[in-house]
Amino acid sequence: MTGELAGRTVLVTGAGRGIGRAEALYLAAAGANVVVNDPGVQIDGRGGDDGVAAAVVDEIRGRGGRAVADNGSVTKWADVQRMVDLAVAEFGDLHAVVNNATIEVNKGLEQLSEAEFDDVVAVKLKGTFAVSRCATSYWRSRVDAGVRADRAIVNTASGSGLLNPLPTQTNYAAANAGVAAMTVVHALELRRLGVRVNCVSPSMVRTRLTNSVPGMDQTPSVGQPDPKDPMVVAPVVAYLSSEGCPLTGQVLSVRGGAIAVNQGWTRGAQVDKQAGLWTVPELAKNLATLPLEDPFDRLASALGDALGSRGREELEAMVNAELDKR
Ligand SMILES: NC(=O)c1ccc[n+]([C@@H]2O[C@H](COP(=O)([O-])OP(=O)(O)OC[C@H]3O[C@@H](n4cnc5c(N)ncnc54)[C@H](O)[C@@H]3O)[C@@H](O)[C@H]2O)c1
Repeated sequence: MTGELAGRTVLVTGAGRGIGRAEALYLAAAGANVVVNDPGVQIDGRGGDDGVAAAVVDEIRGRGGRAVADNGSVTKWADVQRMVDLAVAEFGDLHAVVNNATIEVNKGLEQLSEAEFDDVVAVKLKGTFAVSRCATSYWRSRVDAGVRADRAIVNTASGSGLLNPLPTQTNYAAANAGVAAMTVVHALELRRLGVRVNCVSPSMVRTRLTNSVPGMDQTPSVGQPDPKDPMVVAPVVAYLSSEGCPLTGQVLSVRGGAIAVNQGWTRGAQVDKQAGLWTVPELAKNLATLPLEDPFDRLASALGDALGSRGREELEAMVNAELDKR
């Protein structure tokens, strides 16, 4: 196929539904060979349905594209190795991996079990590590054989973890923050192999994960762009996967047509005692001079329009009521 991604082979994890499915369709339409990975699990990771990935592959092939299905789990090292091997066996090479898979188990810290913490971290954070690790081993073997090519890793994080960690998301927020940190570590380490590493952070995209969020079901009138369409993230992922893209080490928020650079934690105002240890009373006095933002104020300003006319007090009451329900 001709197109901006012609000749590229891309593995997309969790590509059977939502944002990953849109990415797979877009990449294939742009000419890429796509490995559509998805075990077809439920939101919390239980169950499985091989037909979910197969349906996306059928859709791509029906439009004249090239794709192959894989039903492995990013939580299993052997499955991940098989995904990389499948790309090479089927299409002759692997140029980019898109770490998109996720599950969610949203509970307050008081209710969250050890297994529920581990399960989400296993897919989101360790799964990103596993796929990047196996792909990099393959890429290292190519470099050692004298073959250099433009390679890319595109990770997926979330505002819940970066800009506005949400209550009930201990596991998901921590994993997403870890994905963003891993993006920078891998960008620093892998440039020498010709591998660029970036991350997208989708926001307010209509998928099964967000269908209970107020307002998500609203669609624009006919002919108007739909900023919540899962397809909005796909061109950004395609660009980051494409040969010649210069970006590496970036975490880009994508909300509708708006793409913003996330600059992560930054050092803010400080107090500095030049000599000797601080005393506790000194700390109480000096830290009070810093602009320390209350986390509910920060969440309220991050939610902005989504909070409507409700104020910060109402937000805290809503969060507490939600925690009591779970
Ligand atoms: N929807 C949003 O607004 C939004 C916001 C921020 C971040 N994100 C991120 O975007 C990505 C896609 O989310 P989505 O909303 O499309 O979710 P989704 O639930 O629609 O799709 C996720 C897919 O991942 C698959 N998956 C789950 N466990 C897997 C495993 N072990 N191995 C391989 N695949 C597995 C699922 O079967 C599912 O098809 C996620 O990384 C999510 O954190 C989404």
